[in-house]
Amino acid sequence: MPVVPMTEILGPAFEKRYGVGAFNIVNDLTMGAVLDAAVQTNSPVIIQVSVKTVKMFGAKLIQKMFEEMASNVPVPATLHLDHCPDVKMIKTCLDAGWNSVLFDASNLNYEDNLRQTKEVVAMARKCGAAVEGELEAVRGVEDGVGSETEGEIVPLDKCIEFLDQTGIDSFAPAIGTAHGLYKSAPKIDFDRVRQIVSKRPTPIVLHGGTGLSDDVFKRLIAEGCAKVNISTMLKITYCDGYRTYLEAKPQEHDPLKLMVSVREKVVTMAKGFMEVFGSVGTANAVCSSGKSNGESVDF
Ligand code: 13P
Repeated sequence: MPVVPMTEILGPAFEKRYGVGAFNIVNDLTMGAVLDAAVQTNSPVIIQVSVKTVKMFGAKLIQKMFEEMASNVPVPATLHLDHCPDVKMIKTCLDAGWNSVLFDASNLNYEDNLRQTKEVVAMARKCGAAVEGELEAVRGVEDGVGSETEGEIVPLDKCIEFLDQTGIDSFAPAIGTAHGLYKSAPKIDFDRVRQIVSKRPTPIVLHGGTGLSDDVFKRLIAEGCAKVNISTMLKITYCDGYRTYLEAKPQEHDPLKLMVSVREKVVTMAKGFMEVFGSVGTANAVCSSGKSNGESVDF
């Protein structure tokens, strides 16, 4: 299955009310592991990358790596840039062939955010890419981007005006979730998602996925959260995977054995989320050619 546009992944998910996992990968190993999890569960998948990771590897290398890996799997996959306040970096990613970007102008006032988001949408359209928009800052710093406080909630009519005037493809409202680990149970604003979706049928993006209960995921997905972001849990799984392996085998010096073990842990983690999000077996909703057979890919 070739790489597909973000809208082709989110459209059926929103309509049928399942969630597609957007995992913040950090390198080739994690990108391959997340794609493998999607293959094993016959799920569509979003390979999401933070600005910090783009700065580490470069937009072109990540896109080439994604194109090569994703075109060899039988499930639909798309490449998305997470929280990016920098229009220059957005342009670099779009020019390199990325499928989707989150223009995070939530630190700007409403008028400036609206104006700049419109410009980013126009830029993305020329490349056939999608744009996720954000009005209020989601609490928590994600790879150096963001703030520890949730942004001021924008009235519903302004949100709708923002959706209509910008033409964004998905929307990330502040609904009480936060990036990173929760220090106490979050107070989730399910009504806000319901209200926005009842006014405009736009796929909603759930940020701050790590640490939410299965019940919260399912309720939010049922309300219209079609894209579900997971970053912190991938990082924990990846780092702990190395740590526990090396602690258990201090004399091991075969990097490939180590990497295979870590990779398996990331696959298992991603598959678990895909099951909770209800995306298992839905690859064909996007992939009408129906080539997906759930077979694992060899790396
Ligand atoms: P977590 O780090 O809480 O998983 O959130 C991920 C996210 O929302 C990325 O934008």
